[in-house]
Amino acid sequence: LTADQISTVQASFDKVKGDSVGILYAVFKADPSIQTKFTQFAGKDLETIKGTTPFEAHANRIVGFFSKIISELPNIDADVDAFVATHKPRSVTHDQLNNFRAGFVGYMKAHTDYAGAESAWGATLDTFFGAIFAKM
Ligand code: HEM
Repeated sequence: LTADQISTVQASFDKVKGDSVGILYAVFKADPSIQTKFTQFAGKDLETIKGTTPFEAHANRIVGFFSKIISELPNIDADVDAFVATHKPRSVTHDQLNNFRAGFVGYMKAHTDYAGAESAWGATLDTFFGAIFAKM
């Protein structure tokens, strides 16, 4: 990752990081099997849970961690290890991770001027998910 790619991604993410609910919604929408892994949301209507306090609390934790990773680029090894340690035991699949990525990118395309940041995001997400796939 170049310094230019990192600053592009950080500026791009800055615009949406306050909308953790919208981001988690996009991820669950992209792959309902991700939602099913969350015991308190499994089997529930996404449109209904979206407006609840527990959904917001989970969204803040997940997007908060993602935000930490973006802010620490390119030094994300410790974050990747922490993610693998918590998510490998949950049997998260590569398909689910790819769908998380697709849901996130879909969200960014709908809510930001994505074209100028697309290649920087591509390189960043390749780095992050590539590091995860190497370990789980
Ligand atoms: C927690 C599933 C991807 C960050 C959790 C929990 C589940 C889960 C079941 C526990 C929720 C609870 O406390 O009830 C998944 C699945 C994923 C995924 C199926 C498939 C793509 C991600 C990604 C990130 C992330 C990509 C961030 C970059 C977190 C964080 C927590 C969490 C920070 C809270 C701390 C913890 O309990 O580990 N996840 N997750 N997750 N997830 Fe994920």
